[in-house]
Amino acid sequence: MGNERGPVLVTGGAGFAGAYIVRRLLDDGYEVVVYDLADFRPESRFVVGDDASRVPLERGSIDNWPRLFEVVQTHRPAAIVHTASVMDIPFLDANPTIALSVNVGGAVNVMEASRLLGVDRVVIFSTVAVMSEKRYEPIDADHPTVMARVGPLGAYGAAKLAAEAFSYAYRQSFGLDTRVVRPSAVYGFGMSWNAPNYVKNVVEPALLGQPVRLASGGVMPRDYVHAADVAGLVAAILAGPADADRVFFAGTGRPLRTAGEVGQIVRELIPGADVAIGEGLTEGDKAELPFRGVISMDPARAQLGWEPRFGDLRDGLVDYVDRFRAFVAAGGTPTPPPPGLRAPGSG
Ligand SMILES: NC(=O)c1ccc[n+]([C@@H]2O[C@H](COP(=O)([O-])OP(=O)(O)OC[C@H]3O[C@@H](n4cnc5c(N)ncnc54)[C@H](O)[C@@H]3O)[C@@H](O)[C@H]2O)c1
Repeated sequence: MGNERGPVLVTGGAGFAGAYIVRRLLDDGYEVVVYDLADFRPESRFVVGDDASRVPLERGSIDNWPRLFEVVQTHRPAAIVHTASVMDIPFLDANPTIALSVNVGGAVNVMEASRLLGVDRVVIFSTVAVMSEKRYEPIDADHPTVMARVGPLGAYGAAKLAAEAFSYAYRQSFGLDTRVVRPSAVYGFGMSWNAPNYVKNVVEPALLGQPVRLASGGVMPRDYVHAADVAGLVAAILAGPADADRVFFAGTGRPLRTAGEVGQIVRELIPGADVAIGEGLTEGDKAELPFRGVISMDPARAQLGWEPRFGDLRDGLVDYVDRFRAFVAAGGTPTPPPPGLRAPGSG
């Protein structure tokens, strides 16, 4: 998929996961085009490396149909990896129409352009939050989402599930080859401040010599997956057989790790790190807790030959620390938190 048939277009490619995907696809020999509202963040540019200056970056919003269509028509991608979305969960809960117009409408725009312009395969980024309460472990892609009394988490989860449903509709109506990736808690250098998963807010202040005091969240468990391993899964899906599953979770498949364990590893990796994470749970943590569970990565292993490079959280955090230090040593300025951002555990 890609190259002789055309490049791979990565929406949201200037963001966190997108930058790792761009880097991985370039390493695998693909030509890559990025579609994003924004330019590369400094951290994303660092992840992509020198190639960032030669990767075409087409600016536009994913809900801008004429602009997206124009870009797909110009570049004629063989495949599209759609990661662009609004991820500010409290904002989307307060503004469900934005979740619909940008996160659902954007995904539908990607699929509509793909079917009209003959894109071979489309990978849509969803989330584990399409599940509400885990009913069994390990969780696999046959796990229910909407149930008799519970549904996906908030406007963000609802929009992701709606986009997944449309991806089935496009397959049924037009035979479009749509695939879905449901990431768990993605971490790594370059991650967004909006990720409420207690990694960025612990690692980066600790590296800058600042005390970390988070009121709560220490016992909150997650399957933390490194962005490079999510990118590896995307590459495997693009190169994978047509009869592979349509939906893959992106986790490590290992036992869950807590934010408290993240703090403990950071204390071990960064001499003098002063990290304290309280044990209570925020309302956001409480909403997440019911669906956090061990994820089955067996389908990705068996069908796609995927293996995580950072199966162990400690190895992934070492990579984060190393990349952050290299970025700062090269003169990079870390992106500050957006104004008004509430840190996880702040109540
Ligand atoms: N980070 C996680 O833990 C996590 C977990 C589950 C799912 N996901 C999903 O993975 C995807 C990537 O997440 P991320 O962590 O890289 O986020 P990110 O915020 O770092 O990157 C998103 C990118 O999309 C772009 N974007 C936002 N709105 C846009 C719009 N309207 N039009 C075009 N571009 C737009 C942003 O500029 C940014 O470059 C998202 O779809 C997210 O919902 C992430």
